[in-house]
Amino acid sequence: MSRFVVAIDGPAGAGKSTTARRVAERLGFLYLDTGAMYRALTWKALEGGIDLADEEALGELAETSRIDIDSEGRGDRLLVDGDDVTEEIRTPEVSRAVSHVAKVPAVRRAMVRLQRAIANEGRFVVEGRDIGTVVFPDADVKVYLEASLEERAERRRRELSDRGVQQTHGELVEEIRRRDEIDSGREDSPLTRADDAGPLDTTGLTIEGQVDEVVRRVRAALEAQR
Ligand code: DC
Repeated sequence: MSRFVVAIDGPAGAGKSTTARRVAERLGFLYLDTGAMYRALTWKALEGGIDLADEEALGELAETSRIDIDSEGRGDRLLVDGDDVTEEIRTPEVSRAVSHVAKVPAVRRAMVRLQRAIANEGRFVVEGRDIGTVVFPDADVKVYLEASLEERAERRRRELSDRGVQQTHGELVEEIRRRDEIDSGREDSPLTRADDAGPLDTTGLTIEGQVDEVVRRVRAALEAQR
């Protein structure tokens, strides 16, 4: 099947994961969560006691680790060297550390290579920070999701609470703000909207509303390619 990529980028908590997953379901596309890959590597670095300031060690870790997304492509299980770490990569410890790992150029090179290899065939919704700018600059549809910091923190709080992890709204505002700063300020592939990515402000939108809008854009692009 020829390649068709829907790139969904945006800051933490803008609703990328839920939107991307449901859009993929609705359209029968596969789903790739690239943030989960950076999280997996971060989890392994923390487990191994690697100094997060040691870029060489982190680059080496990225080159030598095997990161697998579940083979059905639903993106709901993540394996590092064969171990299922799907739950472990969502802890507050990993969330706090991940931006430091993701800003290392050697780490990004290894992850981007892997992402391209995975999504290079078939129809994919790929979600991250640099998908429309760096990983797939020629993506068929590019969406940049945004929402106010307050709303993003509140969504994250509810999502974590549903999984039994308690963090206050205030803590999450601070954590997301710090993460945005590092993700947008780093030198290598910073979080930024690609010129040709359609912005979608999800503040006040329901998940169904966001999904409908992205599906509409994808259908229009598919129609235009026929
Ligand atoms: O989407 P998320 O919160 O799971 O992403 C975790 C971190 O990974 C985020 O702080 C930035 C980084 N990331 C990145 O740098 N590039 C991507 N394509 C995806 C995520």
